[in-house]
Amino acid sequence: MDYDLKDLGLAQKGKLRVEWAGRAMPVLNLLKQRFAKDKPLKGLRIAACLHVTSETANLMEVLKLGGADVRLCASNPLSTQDDIPAALVKYLKIPVFAIKGEDHKTYYRHIEQALAHGPRVTMDDGADLVSTLHSTRRDLLPGIIGGTEETTTGVIRLRSMARDGVLNYPIIAVNDAQTKHLFDNRYGTGQSTVDGILRSTNVLLAGLRFVIAGYGWCGKGLALRAKGEGAHVIVTEVDPIKAIEAVMDGYEVMPMAEAAKVGDVFVTVTGNKTIIRREHFLCLKDGAIIANAGHFNVEIDIPVLEALAVGKRRVREFVDEYTLKTGRKINLLGEGRLINLAAAEGHPAMVMDMSFANQALSVLHLVRHAGSLEKNVYPVPPEIDQEIASLKLRSLGVRIDRLTPEQKKYLADWKEGT
Ligand SMILES: NC(=O)c1ccc[n+]([C@@H]2O[C@H](COP(=O)([O-])OP(=O)(O)OC[C@H]3O[C@@H](n4cnc5c(N)ncnc54)[C@H](O)[C@@H]3O)[C@@H](O)[C@H]2O)c1
Repeated sequence: MDYDLKDLGLAQKGKLRVEWAGRAMPVLNLLKQRFAKDKPLKGLRIAACLHVTSETANLMEVLKLGGADVRLCASNPLSTQDDIPAALVKYLKIPVFAIKGEDHKTYYRHIEQALAHGPRVTMDDGADLVSTLHSTRRDLLPGIIGGTEETTTGVIRLRSMARDGVLNYPIIAVNDAQTKHLFDNRYGTGQSTVDGILRSTNVLLAGLRFVIAGYGWCGKGLALRAKGEGAHVIVTEVDPIKAIEAVMDGYEVMPMAEAAKVGDVFVTVTGNKTIIRREHFLCLKDGAIIANAGHFNVEIDIPVLEALAVGKRRVREFVDEYTLKTGRKINLLGEGRLINLAAAEGHPAMVMDMSFANQALSVLHLVRHAGSLEKNVYPVPPEIDQEIASLKLRSLGVRIDRLTPEQKKYLADWKEGT
């Protein structure tokens, strides 16, 4: 079997971690049973480009049990947990192409390898797979019935392709499902980003000025968790509505030019680029810690930081210390790549359960509607969102009320007023 990974000897360790994650993924486990019985993806060739984590392994298992022929590569050079590809190859016989720390060339070679079976469906996180297909592997486009996209940045890229009329097949924006971004982006990124910062630095957050750039779903979750650790949270934003929200949630809001002078720890999570750049590096405090949790490593202007520095050394596993001419030191975490996956394990399985249930059911939706969807970006059908939320609640043993017939009628009626 074709694969490229660090060490097959890590397979047993990976298997245990996949099982551990699987225990916190009740919705996905239900889909495993359904898919194994009905084989709705029989013979379907899927190319998946996702963070290769223990939760992703559980999604791969669902697809395989459903009859799919899946190949998997990493969606970030630094997010692979090397024991997981080993477990997937050895125990599930799924070809995986992913090595933590792979260079740019290897990253794109792995994407090519994931595409080698000529997929019918793509599953992407950040849209690197889709953009490869639309540039160097256009020969494969006619065979594709659709794809799914996991993250905000990927959805933004794909909507821009659709707007420009260059998107060649329909995509379901998994990120936009409520059972995805309200939980994964908020609670998943919130907790795991703090986890990544703590694992890489072991700083005490209590009392530190913790600057968060971007108060979207990820930023909100991160603010909540940093505050919980006793940090003094400062938010930077460009959207006035998000900025008011941050103010009313109890945080200080200011431009990055001011935050740069007072912050101790900085996390960018905007999906935009050059959020921390030259003018900010020049006024950061000595010992400032800067990290990114947004999808790409462009939120911190690393080439400029490299140019400004007179010295650089790796002081801990995921900490590069840059010394500026003035003697001040800046600590960059995880090479500016998403710190929750670079230095920690990404989101906990409990939230990835819902994100990946959306992935699996969206693939099923694409198969059932093959040929009838336009070359556009579609939301996850609301009934899938509702079903996932209901299953999750049931698995948690939480029951909720139902509308009475009288309430249903009232909500649908415009006549009843004061
Ligand atoms: N680390 C992870 O595991 C993980 C998980 C989910 C999403 N993401 C990524 O995180 C990023 C943010 O996702 P999201 O769902 O929170 O997006 P979002 O659209 O909800 O929020 C982004 C926010 O950043 C703000 N912003 C844009 N440019 C800015 C600037 N120059 N300065 C300050 N703020 C700015 C926007 O106004 C917006 O409020 C994306 O790249 C997404 O793909 C990462």
